Amino acid sequence: MIKVAFLSSDGARTDIADAEEGQSLLEVAQAYGQPLEGTCEGQMACSTCHVIVDPADFPRLPPASEDEEDMLDLAAATTRTSRLACQITLTAELDGLKVRIPGESRNMQGL
Ligand code: FES
Repeated sequence: MIKVAFLSSDGARTDIADAEEGQSLLEVAQAYGQPLEGTCEGQMACSTCHVIVDPADFPRLPPASEDEEDMLDLAAATTRTSRLACQITLTAELDGLKVRIPGESRNMQGL
């Protein structure tokens, strides 16, 4: 079992989720009721699954593809450690991953 921590956008709440190896971070977030729309269901066409990875954990993630980087460029309120949750596949090495839900994660499609 892999543990993932989701911090609410205001930092007031942390939800700890149990994940299986091979699940995407987006699937886990949605299973635990996190406010990530994931409108395109992992097709890298929406950026509504944008999360901000804890800087301490960021180096543990495989680097983003060029397509992911391009999509992140279009997302609002991105940071240096922003990623698309649909593109992160959980593995045992990512146990303890911490990510924050960005405040403006909703309704960005079409902007
Ligand atoms: Fe659309 Fe991740 S769900 S880019």
